[in-house]
Amino acid sequence: MDTERLKRNWAEVAAHGDQVPLFFYSTLFLAHPHLRDMFPLGMANQRDKLLAALGQVVSHVDDLDAVVPVLQQLGRDHRRFGVVRDHYPAVGQALLATLEHFSSEWTPELARDWAAAYDRVAQVMLAAADAAGEMPPWWHGTVTAVDRRAAGIAVLTVRPHAPLPYLPGQSVAVEVPTRPRLWRWYTPATLPASDGSFELHVRLVPGGQVSPALVMATQVGDVLRLGAPVGTDLVLDDGTRDLLLIAGGTGLAPFKAIMSQLAHQRSTRFAHLYWGGRTQRDLYDLAAMRHLCESHSGLRLVPCVSDEPPSGDVAGGTAVDVALREADWRDHEVYVCGSPEMVRATRDRLLAAGIPRDQVHLEAFGNQETAT
Ligand SMILES: Cc1cc2nc3c(=O)[nH]c(=O)nc-3n(C[C@H](O)[C@H](O)[C@H](O)COP(=O)(O)OP(=O)(O)OC[C@H]3O[C@@H](n4cnc5c(N)ncnc54)[C@H](O)[C@@H]3O)c2cc1C
Ligand code: HEM
Repeated sequence: MDTERLKRNWAEVAAHGDQVPLFFYSTLFLAHPHLRDMFPLGMANQRDKLLAALGQVVSHVDDLDAVVPVLQQLGRDHRRFGVVRDHYPAVGQALLATLEHFSSEWTPELARDWAAAYDRVAQVMLAAADAAGEMPPWWHGTVTAVDRRAAGIAVLTVRPHAPLPYLPGQSVAVEVPTRPRLWRWYTPATLPASDGSFELHVRLVPGGQVSPALVMATQVGDVLRLGAPVGTDLVLDDGTRDLLLIAGGTGLAPFKAIMSQLAHQRSTRFAHLYWGGRTQRDLYDLAAMRHLCESHSGLRLVPCVSDEPPSGDVAGGTAVDVALREADWRDHEVYVCGSPEMVRATRDRLLAAGIPRDQVHLEAFGNQETAT
C-alpha cells in the first residue's frame, strides 16, 4: 500500500471543504435510504466529525497500531447508533465514490489502496464491537434529581436501569428524548451510589443543540439514553506521584469523581484541586467540594475567581495562575479539564513553567474535534 500517495490524495480531496461530506452523505443515502434514520436530522456536526475521523485515520494509515485503541473504542461505541457489520460496505463504497469524485487523477491502484485502508480500519472496529459481547449497546437512565445551581448550570442525578460500570474520569454519551440521535459527552462527577446513580454537571452552551435542553428542560422522571463509558486521559495512572488538578467550570466533574475515589481508597497520594470560575457564582459546587475535602486529609481545594477580587479562601486569578504562583509542580502528575480555550491556555502555561509534557493530562469539554 502506497501510504504517501493516500495522504497526498486525502489532502487534495479535503481541500474541497464542506462539499466533501455533502457529496459523501448524498451518495450514501441515495444508495441506502434506510441508513438516513440512523443519523441526526441536522447533519452539520456530523460532517465535521466524519472529516475529522477520516483525516485522523488517513494520517495514521501506515501506523495503525497508534490508533487501534481509538478505533476499538469507536467500534464498540458505534453499537449505540445501531451500526452492524452489514452497514460497513455501504459506507466504504460511498467513501470511495467521494474520493474518486474529488480527485484530479483516480487510478485503479489508488482505489485498491483506499479500499484496503478502509477495510483494515473497519476490521478493527468490527472486532471490537463483536468483543463487546454482552455489554449493552446503550443504557436507559432515569433522572432522579435536577438541581439548577447557578445561571446556566444544572446538577442532574441519573439512575441507570442496569449497572453501568465506569472509572472516575471517564465520560458517557447522553441522548435527551427531545433531541433524538444528538449524542453529547458528559462526565459522571461521583462514584456510583449503591443504586448505581451518579451526578452529571452540565453547563449550558448558548446556542447549543443539547446542553440547553439538559439544563433548562430536564425534569425528574425523564429517561435519558447513555452510551458506554469512554476515555483514558483523565483516568488516574497507578503511579505514586501527588496530583495537581486544574478545573474550569464544569471541568470539576471528573476531578470530583477522582477525589471521591482517593477518599474512598484512603489513598496516600495528595491531590490539590485548583477550581476556577469568573465569579464566585460560577463555583456552583463549593459546599459539596469543601465537605469532600474535609472527609480525607489528602485532599485540598483552592477555589479561584478571575473577574472578582479574592475573598476568604477564594483566591484571585485563573486556576493555573494561582497554582503556579503558589508552588513548583514539576514532581506532580497534572490533570486539566475545562473548555477548549481554558485547557489550551492552561497547558501552555504549565509547559512554560517546566512541567514535563508526559506529566500533563488534558481533557477539553468541547466538540471532539476541538479537543486538545
Ligand atoms: C469527553 C467530554 C466530556 C464532557 N463532559 C462534560 C461535562 O461533564 N459537563 C459539561 O457541561 N460538558 C461536557 N462536555 C461538553 C459536552 O459534550 C457538549 O459539547 C456541550 O454540552 C455542548 O453541547 P451542545 O449540544 O449544547 O452544543 P453544540 O450544539 O454541540 O455546539 C454549539 C456550539 O458551541 C460550541 N461548543 C460546544 N461545547 C462548548 C464548550 N464546552 N464551550 C464553548 N463552546 C462550546 C460548538 O463548537 C458549537 O459551535 C464534554 C465533552 C467531552 C468531549
Ligand atoms: C471506518 C469506518 C468508520 C469510521 C472511522 C467512523 C467514524 C465515526 C466518528 C469519529 C463518529 C463521531 C463519533 C462521536 O461523536 O461519538 C461517527 C459517528 C457516527 N457514525 Fe461512524 N464511522 C465508521 C463507520 C460507520 C458505519 C459503517 C456507519 C453505519 C451507517 C456509521 C454511522 C455513524 C453514525 C450514525 C454516527 C453518529 C452521527 C452523529 O452523532 O452525528 N459509521 N463515526
